[in-house]
Amino acid sequence: MTDVLVHPEAPAAPEHVAIFRKDYRPPDWLVPEVRLEFELDPDRTKVRSRLKLVRNGDHNRAIRLAGEGLEPLAVRVDGAEAPWSLDSGTLVIELEGDDATVETEIEISPAANNKLMGLYSSGGLLCTQCESEGFRRITFHPDRPDVLSRYSVRMSADKTRFPILLANGNLIGSGDGEVGRHWAKWEDPFPKPSYLFAMVAGDLAANSDRFTTMSGREVALNIWVRTRDLPKTAHAMDSLKAAMRWDEDVYGREYDLDLFNIVAVDDFNFGAMENKGLNIFNSRYVLADQDTATDVDFDNIAGVVAHEYFHNWSGDRVTCRDWFQLSLKEGFTVFRDQGFSADMGSAAVKRIEDVRLLRAAQFPEDAGPLAHPVRPESYIEITNFYTATVYNKGAEVIRMMRTILGEEAFRKGSDLYFDRHDGQAVTCEDFVKAMEDASGVDLSQFRLWYSQAGTPQVAAKLDYDPTSASATLKLRQRIPNTPGQADKQPMVIPLNVALIGKDSGATVGEERLILLNDDEESISFFGIDESPLLSINRDFSAPVMLAVERQDGDLEKLAEIDANPFARYEACQELMYRSLIEGTRSGPADPSAVVAAIRGTLRSNELDPAFKGEALLLPSEGLIGDRMDLVDPDAIHRSRESLRTAIGSELASELAQAQSAIAAGDDLSASAKGVRKLKTVALWLLAGGDRDRGLAMAKAQYDRADNMTDRQGALSVLTSLEGPEREAAFADFYQRYKNDSLVLDKWFALQAAAQRTDTIDVVEALARHEDFGIRNPNRWRALVGNFAANQWAFHHPSGRGYRFVADMILEVDRMNPQVAARQVPSLGRWRRFESGRAGLMRAELDRIVATPGISRDVYEQASKSLG
Ligand code: PHE
Ligand code: ZN
Repeated sequence: MTDVLVHPEAPAAPEHVAIFRKDYRPPDWLVPEVRLEFELDPDRTKVRSRLKLVRNGDHNRAIRLAGEGLEPLAVRVDGAEAPWSLDSGTLVIELEGDDATVETEIEISPAANNKLMGLYSSGGLLCTQCESEGFRRITFHPDRPDVLSRYSVRMSADKTRFPILLANGNLIGSGDGEVGRHWAKWEDPFPKPSYLFAMVAGDLAANSDRFTTMSGREVALNIWVRTRDLPKTAHAMDSLKAAMRWDEDVYGREYDLDLFNIVAVDDFNFGAMENKGLNIFNSRYVLADQDTATDVDFDNIAGVVAHEYFHNWSGDRVTCRDWFQLSLKEGFTVFRDQGFSADMGSAAVKRIEDVRLLRAAQFPEDAGPLAHPVRPESYIEITNFYTATVYNKGAEVIRMMRTILGEEAFRKGSDLYFDRHDGQAVTCEDFVKAMEDASGVDLSQFRLWYSQAGTPQVAAKLDYDPTSASATLKLRQRIPNTPGQADKQPMVIPLNVALIGKDSGATVGEERLILLNDDEESISFFGIDESPLLSINRDFSAPVMLAVERQDGDLEKLAEIDANPFARYEACQELMYRSLIEGTRSGPADPSAVVAAIRGTLRSNELDPAFKGEALLLPSEGLIGDRMDLVDPDAIHRSRESLRTAIGSELASELAQAQSAIAAGDDLSASAKGVRKLKTVALWLLAGGDRDRGLAMAKAQYDRADNMTDRQGALSVLTSLEGPEREAAFADFYQRYKNDSLVLDKWFALQAAAQRTDTIDVVEALARHEDFGIRNPNRWRALVGNFAANQWAFHHPSGRGYRFVADMILEVDRMNPQVAARQVPSLGRWRRFESGRAGLMRAELDRIVATPGISRDVYEQASKSLG
């Protein structure tokens, strides 16, 4: 199928103006009440709105109601026609008194809405997405998060096509209308910003359940999907109930409405959306069963369901004053969902995964042309700031506050924050202030984490003096320059430190929290009677890059004995990096230290399989590149493959044993998941040692699998190999799942991630495959996103990879700018590569920026990447 590119809104010359945090002004008009009436139809939906407006403060400015692509059919003020004007989409009306009722009427076409913002159609459903500024595509409204209103919504639609009608809050009436139509009326008692408005109409079936809150209130829960998907909703429902209980237990937060709805839609720009009482999800974060979803998918579903649910307090009840404060709700909510997942499974493994993601996604962002503080100072298009910095570094900032204050004071602080600001639109500063007030701890210097971009670099060295039985830890910090920010001040860096006896292996004294807050500091330890090893930044207590000056053999020892699982994992990874980076310089490095560490890990009786699976994973090629002055994709690939080969051949029997372990597909316990994870990592290493054996074992794993984790795991190894086994497995997978779009995404993704010299040819061919289309963001990202993340293939010296990605960005931009813009950073890393590749990458960025009619979204990302 070739996608016909339609232009519902012929792109007007984009206004590429920056908006600054310092320019914030409170709204001129408040909107205490919003009444909406929808006559729903995929092609022509009529929207009537009635806003109650109240002048805010002493001024005589007109009311300005944002609109995007809206044509007013009627405008009435207090019931009478009134003069108005349109100022590049914004409806401007002069109002006399201090309050007024403004009614407007417009018509929109959900079926023609390809941006998936506002009201759009997805797989026969009509649904909305309003964050950040989508509400203005539905009706005229201030559409800013500090304007909170009570909403009532009346919707009507064809009863056969759209039997289910949902909106925020409570259903207060429904009935039949004329000519096969019906209607429903919804009211949300909680004032909310427009970005949390939501509405869905469609032919949906619910998995329904109940939850009794801690105060004994009954809440009806529904997960709405297509009827045939109902069997795949059990895990999401279990996750929802577990999240509701956890938020009561850990944060004292109770759900506040009698109804909580989740709807799954196939076409969605992000993961999911926390609309009050009506969360809307990308179906990939709802639907799962053992035959179609991997353990990682199951875990992601639990995490995203919890994340959106937790927003009910951290986001909905207390919301953001303006979009610069986005991390107020996102950083905090990511931190909360990380805590939930840690409590539901292995905390150590969860921390390892979170840190890996931070390093893979956020550190490069912080080191590149798009670096920005957790609380940005300016933006051209706010959607570009839903970043790993705002989300994941933001979560680390909250975690550091908890580390510094202690759990009890942190909980007091969060109680105070929710209590003090319930029903308000507030700032990151308000959050920190609540933490300070509740704990009595001064966080003045800590606030720099919100304003200074860049990953702090910390150097550490431990000196031991046996005569005085003391040790001195020397620490230094440096915050790199980032675009628009030089000469930074030293930050507060909380470092969990332990000293471990080199001979005894015992921790000397207690683990200690050190707050590094100067450029340089020296810390003394006394009563140390044996030579100590430094275990530092345990559990990744601070999101920094650490360089420790060590003696020979120290890392090997830590990898073997550190009692902190995270620290042990880190030591193992450091050994790998050392060998891998040496291998990029001078050909294959001596693998013996890594092999010994892996052998020790595999043989350990105290470590569980999930941890072993993590510890055996070699750093990705991208992560290795991040440690080099200039990324050399070919050298990195060779070095990593050679280490993999060494491990695979030297540890063949241990690895084969781990690979042969079987966990029943319907067993979703942490230990069964661990067995499966280790199984595929072992397979991958083995295949490095012996490709023919790897092919056969992978094919056997594929054929015998009774679950998607083992099946996809086998394919993830096969995809980079060559042989009839590979072709047979991929053909089988396609035949089996071609009608299940979420699984078919995996088929695209696995081929795009192949480490083969022909990957670019395959990917170009897949872009012409009948099952490829650019309207569905999941499918587009499965191919383009995974390819661009495949360092060795993407950075093909010919530049074909760059050209392909740039073409895809430009193509999808005409339809869906948000999706397009999120892919630009892969080209924006050109400074990290040798001049040949850098030039080719730049040329693609130049071509993008020079293309007439590109979106504001893509313009901002591409132009900043060139700058
Ligand atoms: N607020 C959503 C979340 O993180 C993300 C999102 C942003 C979804 C914008 C859609 C659009 O939970
Ligand atoms: Zn969120």
